[in-house]
Amino acid sequence: MEVVIVPDARSGGELIAEAMAELLRRKPDALLGVATGSTPLPVYQALAAKVRAGQADISRARIAQLDEYVGLPADHPESYRSVLRREVLEPLGIGMEAFLGPDGTAEDIRAASQAYDAALAAAGGVDLQLLGIGTDGHIGFNEPCSSLASRTRIKTLTEQTRVDNARFFDGDIAQVPHHVITQGIGTILEARHLVLLATGENKADAVAATVEGPLAAVCPASALQLHPHATVVVDEGAASKLK
Ligand code: F6R
Repeated sequence: MEVVIVPDARSGGELIAEAMAELLRRKPDALLGVATGSTPLPVYQALAAKVRAGQADISRARIAQLDEYVGLPADHPESYRSVLRREVLEPLGIGMEAFLGPDGTAEDIRAASQAYDAALAAAGGVDLQLLGIGTDGHIGFNEPCSSLASRTRIKTLTEQTRVDNARFFDGDIAQVPHHVITQGIGTILEARHLVLLATGENKADAVAATVEGPLAAVCPASALQLHPHATVVVDEGAASKLK
């Protein structure tokens, strides 16, 4: 695992956007795995700026979703499909035909989960998966004690994650769904390159456990230690508890 310490979130976004642009130069139809939440926004902004400046060609790229709330209508403004459309696809000029995501509205979530793993495999697998990290060490929505070999499936959000995400629902935790469909840790580990971005001191404990702690399901992100090509990009706050 390589750890890159950057001065601030903006530089982290720029660094990762350049890695994506470089991947697209080598493989124009690369499948980019994207995360939601606040942390990756500087990456998407930097990538959109590169596209506008003619420094990245995204015209053949494909985008894959990491996780989705269960039970929110797909057109709900906070469904991750809507968020990604707004924050990634539209600014990059990518149409929904190049988008892969799990169906959080399916009656049979188990079948929808298996179908998503199959769709990712049929698409040739994710080339670069961008990840955020929860304060409890979750990646995707694999909360602590998720199996390190897990596949895409339904998970129950912890109270802490629902509290953390209430800011997207007018601060009202009652509106935050209890369940999500998320790529499993085993699914995430199949991506060819994992890039985790963490910014801010509130992520410092989770980053230290990921990078320097034991490989343990209690910190799902520690599974990155198993991956042959994992990059952790952190600002000084998030790096502050590394030895
Ligand atoms: C969301 C996801 C989550 C977030 C994590 C951090 O798609 O995968 O693991 O990355 O909850 O969220 P932020 O970036 O908002 O702190």
